[in-house]
Amino acid sequence: MNQAVSASKDSSQGNTSTALVTGASAGIGAEFARQLAAQGHDLVLTARRLDRLQQLAGELQQQHSIRVHCIAADLAAADAVSELVSKIDAQQLHIDILINNAGYGVPGHLTSVDWTEHQRFMQVLVLAVIELSYRLLPGMQQRGFGGIINVASLAGLVPGTASHTLYSASKAFLIRLSESLALENEQHGIRVQALCPGFTYSEFHDVTGSRELVSQMPDYMWLQAEHVVRISLAALVQDKPPVLVVPGRINRTLARIAAWLPHRRALNLVRQRSRKYRQQE
Ligand SMILES: NC(=O)c1ccc[n+]([C@@H]2O[C@H](COP(=O)([O-])OP(=O)(O)OC[C@H]3O[C@@H](n4cnc5c(N)ncnc54)[C@H](OP(=O)(O)O)[C@@H]3O)[C@@H](O)[C@H]2O)c1
Repeated sequence: MNQAVSASKDSSQGNTSTALVTGASAGIGAEFARQLAAQGHDLVLTARRLDRLQQLAGELQQQHSIRVHCIAADLAAADAVSELVSKIDAQQLHIDILINNAGYGVPGHLTSVDWTEHQRFMQVLVLAVIELSYRLLPGMQQRGFGGIINVASLAGLVPGTASHTLYSASKAFLIRLSESLALENEQHGIRVQALCPGFTYSEFHDVTGSRELVSQMPDYMWLQAEHVVRISLAALVQDKPPVLVVPGRINRTLARIAAWLPHRRALNLVRQRSRKYRQQE
């Protein structure tokens, strides 16, 4: 079992493993923080809302006797990752587990959204993920262990929809990136996972303004963040960890159907479904 991702802390030997969670102020990221804390990992939490991070940090420090560092960062800024990593280095912290989770959706067709909005989106969803991996992997390689979980989406496994144009493309990118990084880093004892949740209760759909629309989805389509994160962390410590993790039986079935169907039929199915659930421009 991988040293970094199993028991996290052996105080008798002074071994402490530290996890960095992006987008830890809400939803799936906050749940990663909770479950990693319960496993005894020290944490670095980042997001824009520092007050939220500090409140969570206070709770987790009290409950689990771990150290939690909060660093506010807007990952849409081009220099945000280098500044974040400098702050982590300045505190002489080593990141053993990286959870690339921060994300959101942008409703609209490609040409109906400002270009700067697309740039910010790609910076958060894609470039920050690549840069954090680029800057933190060398340390993991030197230490001979580590883990990266890239929070992608079921949307990255099924054909693209109209509206939210760059969302499924960015998540498909994260899946491919995770596959390559897993292969490149296997020999260094580093595990890389692309986590592909389907609809999950969080603030995501409030932020995108699609809460009313997605509320029409039947209850059985929805997962709790607690379940998503538990499945993800359990998969990371398996003897042969899978790169692709799709929590929920229905989501796994949908992913299999999308992979199995002729592409044109899969595209047609998505066209029919997305007409019902996506906002129309
Ligand atoms: N919920 C779903 O149905 C679902 C399904 C599949 C995949 N996902 C993926 O799961 C991940 C987490 O989403 P969630 O559902 O937990 O949504 P959420 O509750 O809205 O949380 C999103 C997190 O991302 C952070 N974030 C957003 N923009 C940021 C920025 N510019 N800089 C730094 N942090 C930023 C937010 O923090 P601040 O606002 O404080 O910065 C927040 O902590 C995302 O990558 C999402 O694409 C979600």
